[in-house]
Amino acid sequence: MEMQEQLRKIQQEAAKELEKIADKSGLEEIRLRVLGKKGQLTQMLRSMGQLPPEERPQAGQMINAVRTKLTEQMDEMEKKLREKEQEKALEREVIDITEPRAHTAFGSKHPLSLVEDKLISIFTSMGFDAVEGPEVELDLFNFELLNIPKNHPARDAQDTFYIEDNIVLRTQTSGVQAHTMLERKPPIRIICPGRVYRADEVDATHSPVFHQMEGLVIDKDVTMADLKGTLDIFAKSLFGEDVKTRFRPSFFPFTEPSAEVDLTCVACHGKGCRVCKGTGWIEVLGAGMVNPKVLDMCGIDSSVYGGFAFGLGIERIAMLHYGITDMRLLYEGDVRFLSQFRED
Ligand code: PHE
Repeated sequence: MEMQEQLRKIQQEAAKELEKIADKSGLEEIRLRVLGKKGQLTQMLRSMGQLPPEERPQAGQMINAVRTKLTEQMDEMEKKLREKEQEKALEREVIDITEPRAHTAFGSKHPLSLVEDKLISIFTSMGFDAVEGPEVELDLFNFELLNIPKNHPARDAQDTFYIEDNIVLRTQTSGVQAHTMLERKPPIRIICPGRVYRADEVDATHSPVFHQMEGLVIDKDVTMADLKGTLDIFAKSLFGEDVKTRFRPSFFPFTEPSAEVDLTCVACHGKGCRVCKGTGWIEVLGAGMVNPKVLDMCGIDSSVYGGFAFGLGIERIAMLHYGITDMRLLYEGDVRFLSQFRED
């Protein structure tokens, strides 16, 4: 029978070609040619009308059988192709986790931040809270409540940046003492690190913006021995067990009595060198017993409570700690300089 022969040929040919195809587009080509709207099988179905009616059902069955068979084979082939493609993709996208990667440059903390962190950790371990205060400050807090009189030289425009008559860039962190005393009830134990501003020219030891850390303790029965002990522990924690502290009489309007506090020179351990100008001592901070006038102005009863305060320059401590001789290096942002400092 001519049609049977034709069907067999179509099927054989298609099967043979299916064996050979390499990708999906090859498969689609065959599918279209055999099963498509204008494909070989579809055309045969259409031409069935020319057959005698009694032969049509059988012919239809045969064509459909071939169609089903070829569809199955093509689907099977499609599945195989998809699997192959996935395998290839997996091979292509394989990641070698042992391959050395490009060098990564690590950042490091700024030496001032390292020292500030260290100071905070020393004092918080002694029970101090770290607090912050405003850098743009009222005259009231920067001067008035600290018992700094109207005619004090520190109030001069040559020393202080004024925003308005009554508003300054704080010249010291001591204003946070007043804020804290007005806000909290004793016992008070705080430190306050932060930026301060003074109308200074830039040189190896001065900058118009620098950093201080204030300390304040208010309680009953606080003595100068507590101040000395606290600063001793601070000095030893930062510079080593053999460091000694020394108080020299000084004056601050907000403390009475007041002291300049020296440490044995961290470079020569007190023998005398260039860093300490041969004296064996270096000045690191100002301190004293909180002036009762300040306590009363800030709402704390000076007949019941007393306390001590201290203030240090973070730049100065950082320079001593790391042996930095020019303050400007701390602000220039030179990576060759900055990358030398690591957390210890
Ligand atoms: N505020 C003082 C200064 O800037 C330092 C200081 C703080 C002194 C607290 C005594 C008590 O020099």
